Amino acid sequence: MKLIFAIIQPDRLEEVKQALYEVDVNLITVVPVLGHGRQMGVTEIYRGGKETGNLLRKVELQIAVNDSFVDPTIKAIIKGARTGNIGDGKIFVMDLPRCIRIRTGDEGAEAIG
Ligand SMILES: Nc1ncnc2c1ncn2[C@@H]1O[C@H](COP(=O)(O)OP(=O)(O)OP(=O)(O)O)[C@@H](O)[C@H]1O
Ligand SMILES: [Mg+2]
Repeated sequence: MKLIFAIIQPDRLEEVKQALYEVDVNLITVVPVLGHGRQMGVTEIYRGGKETGNLLRKVELQIAVNDSFVDPTIKAIIKGARTGNIGDGKIFVMDLPRCIRIRTGDEGAEAIG
């Protein structure tokens, strides 16, 4: 299992969600975050709101998936979020040792999807 974090522009969220649903990724967590990339938030301000100092409003997706879903998930995020402009975002993939569904006690592959 992997845990995928993706930081995207808030105005791409709907497109990314639709692209994820198309590859049967239906369980996601969406978190409003502040951040900047290598431009330090300076040249990118035109794309969105400036929150505080040089930190810009972004959206973080947190998606836990079985291994076979990792590449489709990455492709879907890129499909929905890429404009070709600076600040399109970044994807981080981490190993995920455990996942437990609280209601049933299911673990692992059963619990994740
Ligand atoms: N190495 C990193 N560590 C933590 N967060 C990061 C990192 N790189 C990017 N981010 C987060 O992702 C957001 C989007 O990054 P961004 O797309 O601007 O990356 P970039 O490396 O500057 O690429 P680009 O040149 O395309 O803008 C940032 O606002 C920040 O929140
Ligand atoms: Mg950047």
